[in-house]
Amino acid sequence: MIRKAVLPVAGWGTRFLPATKAMPKEMFPVIDKPVVQFIVEECLHAGVENIIFVTGRHKRPIEHHFDINTDLEKHLEQMGKHDLLNNIREFSRLTNPIYIRQKEQLGLGHAVLVAEPVVGDEPFIVALGDIIIDGEENIIKRMIEIYERFGKSVIAVFEVDRKMVSKYGIVSVKPIEEDIGLIEDLVEKPKEEEAPSNLAIVGRYLFTPRIFEKLKVTPVGKGGEIQLTDAIKLLLEDEAVYSIKLKANVYDTGSPLGYLTTLVNFALKRKDIKDEFIKFLEDVVSKHSQWINKA
Ligand code: G1P
Repeated sequence: MIRKAVLPVAGWGTRFLPATKAMPKEMFPVIDKPVVQFIVEECLHAGVENIIFVTGRHKRPIEHHFDINTDLEKHLEQMGKHDLLNNIREFSRLTNPIYIRQKEQLGLGHAVLVAEPVVGDEPFIVALGDIIIDGEENIIKRMIEIYERFGKSVIAVFEVDRKMVSKYGIVSVKPIEEDIGLIEDLVEKPKEEEAPSNLAIVGRYLFTPRIFEKLKVTPVGKGGEIQLTDAIKLLLEDEAVYSIKLKANVYDTGSPLGYLTTLVNFALKRKDIKDEFIKFLEDVVSKHSQWINKA
C-alpha cells in the first residue's frame, strides 16, 4: 500500500566541509557501505518499491552508486571475486531510483514538496539520508502497520537528553498504547527551556498526501527555511498524526562526532574487524590514561 519513499539528500553538508565540497555526506562510508545505502535498504526491507531522491547539483555520486556498473562487474568476474560481485550485482538491481532536483535549498519542507509530482495522491515515506537506525525491528515497516490501522500520518520519535533538544524537532504526545501516541504539538529546534518534551523527531515520517497542501502554505521558519515540522503542525489542524517511539540505536552521521560514533559502533559489530579493533581501542584508552596522569 505504501509504495514510495522520498529521501531528501540535497543538503550542503556544511558541518563536513571541506570533505563535502565534491562528495555528498550521504556517500561517506560506514566501514565499506555508504550511509545512504543503509537507508535505502531499510526502505526496501519494509516493502517500499520506489526510492525518490531529492537531490542537488553536487550529488551525482549517489546516482552512480545506485546504477549498474558493468565494467566493475566484468572486472570482479575476471578476478574471480564472486562474493563482492554478487553483493554489488544484487544491490544495483534491487532498486529503480528516481531523481528529482531541488533547485534551491529552501529547507527540508521544501525538499519534500519538490517530490509531489512523483509521489502524487498517495501516502508515502520520508527518510532522512544521514540518519541510520539500528534496531531489531524495521521502523518503517512498523510505521506502515500503524498507518494501515489508523489511516493517518505517523512520525518516529526517540528520547534525547534535554540538553540536545535544540538539535531536533521536538514533539509532545498523548500516549495511546505501548509505544504509540497522538501528537499534540511540535516545535523545530526549541531552546531547552521552551521544549514541550524530550521526544525528538528521528528522521522517519509517513505522510498522507495532505502534507503537500500544508507545505505549500508553510511560512519560512527556523533558520530562514521552510520546515517540515511546521507543516506537520499545520496538518494537525485537519487530521490526527500518530507517533511511534523508537527502541533502536539512532546514528546521526551528519556531524563529525556522530559519524565517528557510528563508525566505532559498526566496527564493533563486524566479525572480521572487531577483535583487532577492540585491542586498538584498549591501547588508545591505556595511552590516554597515561596522558591524563602526566597532566
Ligand atoms: C531535521 C528535522 C528535525 C529532525 C532532524 C532529525 O533537522 O528538521 O525536525 O529532528 O532532522 O535528525 P536537521 O538535522 O536536518 O537540521
